[in-house]
Amino acid sequence: MSKLWQKTTNVNKLVENFTVGRDRELDRQMAAFDVLGSLAHTTMLQSIGLMDADDLVLVQRELKAIYADIEQDNFIIEDGVEDVHSQVEMLLTQRIGDAGKKIHSGRSRNDQVLVDLKLFFRHQLQQVVQETNKLFRQLIQLSEQHKDVLLPGYTHLQVAMPSSFGLWFGAYAEGLVDDLEMVLAAWKITNKNPLGSAAGYGSSFPLNRTMTTQLLGFESLNHNVVYAQMGRGKTERIIAQALSSVAATLAKMAMDQCLYLSQNFAFVSYPENLTTGSSIMPHKKNPDVWEIMRGKCNRLQALPNDVAMMTTNLPSGYHRELQLLKELLFPAFVDLTDCLQMATFMLQNITVNKTILDDPKYAYLFSVEEVNKSVLNGTPFRDAYKQVGLAIEQGNFNPDKNINHTHEGSIGNLQNEQISEAMDKILESFDFKKVEDAISWLVK
Ligand code: ARG
Repeated sequence: MSKLWQKTTNVNKLVENFTVGRDRELDRQMAAFDVLGSLAHTTMLQSIGLMDADDLVLVQRELKAIYADIEQDNFIIEDGVEDVHSQVEMLLTQRIGDAGKKIHSGRSRNDQVLVDLKLFFRHQLQQVVQETNKLFRQLIQLSEQHKDVLLPGYTHLQVAMPSSFGLWFGAYAEGLVDDLEMVLAAWKITNKNPLGSAAGYGSSFPLNRTMTTQLLGFESLNHNVVYAQMGRGKTERIIAQALSSVAATLAKMAMDQCLYLSQNFAFVSYPENLTTGSSIMPHKKNPDVWEIMRGKCNRLQALPNDVAMMTTNLPSGYHRELQLLKELLFPAFVDLTDCLQMATFMLQNITVNKTILDDPKYAYLFSVEEVNKSVLNGTPFRDAYKQVGLAIEQGNFNPDKNINHTHEGSIGNLQNEQISEAMDKILESFDFKKVEDAISWLVK
């Protein structure tokens, strides 16, 4: 018998395939976390007298063996087994008999999958934070390195005012700081324990939910058991918003890169082996990496909407389509971390063009600089504006290209130090250490 819930009737094969869907493949990614949940749950069961000490030793020894197999990529969800929860319980029962059948007391697959997902998401968010931080450091380094190299700033895609590579790289760095505020919010909401909510309405066993909260390194718990179940979908939506925020920053940067790499701009370049060629045009060096990144990150920005649409009118309580959220979220983490890594890699190899502004078409960038200079010498702004405007019209505008911007966050005062401090402060708010310690204790 392959179903945990199967008693006498065999479920129709078509129904089984349709409802199991991609669970066998996707649940594999939650397997280690399913075992961690069971380690915490069984420790708690023993503490309240629902499992004796000998059974606990037996069960935990096997759970740790399964955990090691998972870590070594030596674990599959067998055909005919519904999901990871069933596979782990089946392995335990095969190996240690009745003791294995006791681990499900006071628990339902509904809170089991909830806790697995929270642990999995926590792990994935940690990767996102670490990769975002690497990209951030790379951007700040480039911003400092090229702070004196000027770049045309555009509004309406028309030449506007002087900008700099210091500003451009630093802008994306600061953007990532705000994105991590969103990720921190997602982390906080994720980092609460739903275990013990069982099918969504609690249990008549005197479960110690505070204990499993501590064992799993959660910050606190979803107190209300009905709300714990409502967290499915809500957690995903909030995470999707956070991922989408990072993705939006990356997508914009990718678009800038494509534009700046175009021959009509030629502001930046990359070694030839980081660009791709054309099968027909022998001269081509295309920015495919940035284009794929732009596409993936634009698609990621649809994720909150996908999650919202899938869950929008569900009443409280468990519903099976919640399972489909895995299909949305799991690949999203892979895409985003890939994009973050590729962005960092590409930027390690970027060359900036130091002579962009020598081209006469960029002379007008300095019109506001000239106006401001007159204003500082006592001419009212509107008069100074007219004088410069007339000089441009008459073709005798010869700007001084030395610029002097001093205020906070401007070309001459990037405030990268303050931006880095803000980043460090956010990074300190993620209690990764507490999580790692809890997990090491559970599997030791
Ligand atoms: N695979 C299921 C999911 O992801 C596990 C929970 C099944 N619960 C149930 N009541 N059928 O939601």
